[in-house]
Amino acid sequence: MEWWKKAVVYQIYPRSFMDTNQDSIGDIQGIISRLDYLKYLGINVIWLCPVYASPNEDNGYDISDYYDLSKEYGSMKDMEELIFEAKKRDIFLMMDIVANHTSKEHRWFIEASSDENNLYHEYYVFKDNNGVLPSDLQSVFLDSAWELNPATNEYYLHLFAKGQPDLNWHHEPVRKSIYDILNFWIDKGIKGFRFDVIDLIAKDMDHDIIGDGPLLHPYIKEMAKNTFKDKDLITVGETWGATVEKAKMYSNPDHSEFSMIFNFAHILLDQEEGKEKWDLYPLDLIKLKQTLNEQQQELYQAGWNSLFWNNHDLPRIVSRWGNDQEYRVESAKMLATLLHFMQGTPYIYQGEEIGMTNMKFENLEDLRDIESLNMIKQRLKLGYDLPSIMKSIHAKGRDNARTPYQWNNKVYAGFSEEKPWIKCNPNYVTINMESQKNDPDSILEHYKTLIWFRRKSLYSDVIARGTFKLIYQDHPDLFAYQRSYQGKCLTVLCNFHNTRISLPDFVSHERLLLSNYKDSNMTKGLNLRPYESIVLFSNQ
Ligand code: NOJ
Repeated sequence: MEWWKKAVVYQIYPRSFMDTNQDSIGDIQGIISRLDYLKYLGINVIWLCPVYASPNEDNGYDISDYYDLSKEYGSMKDMEELIFEAKKRDIFLMMDIVANHTSKEHRWFIEASSDENNLYHEYYVFKDNNGVLPSDLQSVFLDSAWELNPATNEYYLHLFAKGQPDLNWHHEPVRKSIYDILNFWIDKGIKGFRFDVIDLIAKDMDHDIIGDGPLLHPYIKEMAKNTFKDKDLITVGETWGATVEKAKMYSNPDHSEFSMIFNFAHILLDQEEGKEKWDLYPLDLIKLKQTLNEQQQELYQAGWNSLFWNNHDLPRIVSRWGNDQEYRVESAKMLATLLHFMQGTPYIYQGEEIGMTNMKFENLEDLRDIESLNMIKQRLKLGYDLPSIMKSIHAKGRDNARTPYQWNNKVYAGFSEEKPWIKCNPNYVTINMESQKNDPDSILEHYKTLIWFRRKSLYSDVIARGTFKLIYQDHPDLFAYQRSYQGKCLTVLCNFHNTRISLPDFVSHERLLLSNYKDSNMTKGLNLRPYESIVLFSNQ
């Protein structure tokens, strides 16, 4: 079985992880200084969000040099030290590759935009339209996706910010240039890639095709063949438009494409069809069960799942679908249990393992994310009132995930001695890593146990290889399932709500393996308290 099928990935957003040179921004040396902590936690892969040279219009997702590091994070020497020090602790590095677009300050774009006869002009998507917008296509960060390039009097395409021009993958030298970049990093000793918005690369603007262009899979196959295939790497594609059918293609066990993708179908459940993410909509637990069940069933032996609740673009799960007040500890553990016993590779986003919560930014000037700032401008123009706009930002804004990591209760949460680039969540005084380490009842120790179950325990094979069966499918509060492999069975029961569940006829079991409450009494049937989760073992 491929090594990454028993791996657990930890995602680091370097800007907000650990600052060692006191410039208010996290850095590579900061990550090195925390590797022992990650080793203690038990993860074995770090997904590192972009650390390349960048003007930071979109916090590093606008890359101006793929072969160099952003000075604020450190030097290539620091990066080599990180790869080396991580490896010493049996931790591999997964780089974030943004191959759909570059920064407008990338050398290719500077050349491309200077003259239409320039060699690099075909690297990007330009349209000559006599000074009229080629279409009314909107960028993900709002406003037109086309921007006038005065030097050539053409428009260039940017599906994200103006400073993120889209690459033209149909031009072979573009693809080759990307493969060179990947091979450079493979030679440096990294062991995986996360591919940013990879389902957009094969766009065809002449036929209004943006996601899932007809050449998408051929391009991914070509890329794999020229770079990571047969190198035993872990690869994951970010694909907002994925379905289980597409997930099967991307993660085909023949290794012709990726190890797995991020399928956002479950994450999109609290967004109404046809509406924006800012239009808040309640989660339907039955739909969540159906969605995850479908992924578990369909990819069984036919592909591979990634398992995630969080990343740097998403609100904190304990605030989103848990209860970040009275039941913060219980619900954070319950959500983790639910995910970590499924089949797939789990991804933990920094701070998730200590139950970090969303941050209620009171003042507009404290917000940093380009997406939120653009949304405010647009919605004010459309006549929305500010309180309703802020309500959406508090629930879904990307800055929620980007507040500094809460290491301890000292100044600025132990992240830096200087005022951080983005405000700390004031709850760091009570919610922080140091107060949870070695406390057997903490969220951190719960995550540590979950990682141990998957990576090192006797149940490792059941978790990695077992079948998946949803039980109590129609129960309105309970998310429960069974995993079975070679006569061993794990039953995972999670009370998803602030309510009590009684299952008087619940069948017996041999052992209680894990619980998120201190005292689990299971004598008369099964009674689950608010957000209670338990894992039972039985021989079949
Ligand atoms: C997805 C990344 O996760 C997000 O942070 C970024 O803004 C967009 N892609 C554009 O690169």
